[in-house]
Amino acid sequence: MAFFNLQDINVSYDKKNNILEGLNLEIEKGELVSLLGPSGCGKTTTLRVVAGFIEPTHGQFILDDTDMTKVPVHKRNFGLVFQSYALFPHLSVFDNVAFGLKLQKVSKEEIKKRVENILEVCDLKGFEKRFPKQLSGGQRQRVALARALVVEPKLLLLDEPLSNLDAKLRINMRVEIKRLQRKLGITTIFVTHDQEECFSISDKVAVMNGGVIEQYDTPENIYRTPKTEFVARFIGFENFIDLKRKDAHTYIASDGSEFVVDNGCDKEDPKGTIRPEDIQIVSSQDNVENKITGKVIVRTFLGKSYQYELDTPLGVIVVNGSSDHVLQAQDTVCVSLPKGKIVLV
Ligand SMILES: Nc1ncnc2c1ncn2[C@@H]1O[C@H](COP(=O)(O)OP(=O)(O)O)[C@@H](O)[C@H]1O
Ligand SMILES: [Mg+2]
Repeated sequence: MAFFNLQDINVSYDKKNNILEGLNLEIEKGELVSLLGPSGCGKTTTLRVVAGFIEPTHGQFILDDTDMTKVPVHKRNFGLVFQSYALFPHLSVFDNVAFGLKLQKVSKEEIKKRVENILEVCDLKGFEKRFPKQLSGGQRQRVALARALVVEPKLLLLDEPLSNLDAKLRINMRVEIKRLQRKLGITTIFVTHDQEECFSISDKVAVMNGGVIEQYDTPENIYRTPKTEFVARFIGFENFIDLKRKDAHTYIASDGSEFVVDNGCDKEDPKGTIRPEDIQIVSSQDNVENKITGKVIVRTFLGKSYQYELDTPLGVIVVNGSSDHVLQAQDTVCVSLPKGKIVLV
């Protein structure tokens, strides 16, 4: 059995509707797993079940072969960094970090040693005597992390810990979290609604939708081969084209045109989807696969590229084009959907 196991978990806040329904999650020791999904899909609820703040109405939580389902919060000794878990304003950095160890009645010398060590690891040496209000957002976040890590928890639970930081700090901090997590080998669940953040630090990603996990896999596999339309949309796929299966690698669109794909699927009428940046703008004479002709209806400047909405016989197709050759509204344009980049869902 995996180190961490959520088995068939149901949660209901009102005894009528299930917020989580039959949720399963397995995590190996030392892995960092992200829960990714839109607001309201049940990420925080899942973490609260693990932390012990809510008891599931059905199912079990097993950690290291021990049934934790009914163990109270304070006996779980997990490291928690929740959005709402603020630092104690009246305690210094040192005392904030030492708090959990004092609760555990660790000796004074041992506390000093461990707090100093973790402050060094979190790049907070020299800040021991400061109070939270004398720190920047990123420093405070690191103190919260140090406080969670110092108890050397069996599990580290992070609920959108970077959401209050500006863009640059977020990136620094996520590298920091990954480094610490690796160094200390702590099994970690990281909650986020930001796919880039999640892909960059996770060993595995669980994409959640409406209280269930729709796909659980490595970031690479999810990025390249989403299994459902929801997952595909959430990670940046657009252009969902209704298709009918002709054979394993050939599909027919609604206007009768044929699409070839590298990776077929078992469904008789799947949708073919592709990211806007994977579509190529070609000339009308080019002999290329999966060609569609359309008219530019909207152009959006993205910085590195332009994005166009094309009106085509298959509906609106969204495509990115380089800044070298800029198209105008009403221009007629041909695009090719490379067969290796089309995913069937
Ligand atoms: N204490 C609560 N009482 C009732 N409903 C709640 C409570 N907390 C969360 N919910 C509902 O449960 C669903 C999942 O919420 P949550 O787990 O916080 O989602 P996420 O963290 O993914 O944004 C939402 O529909 C939310 O409104
Ligand atoms: Mg949440």
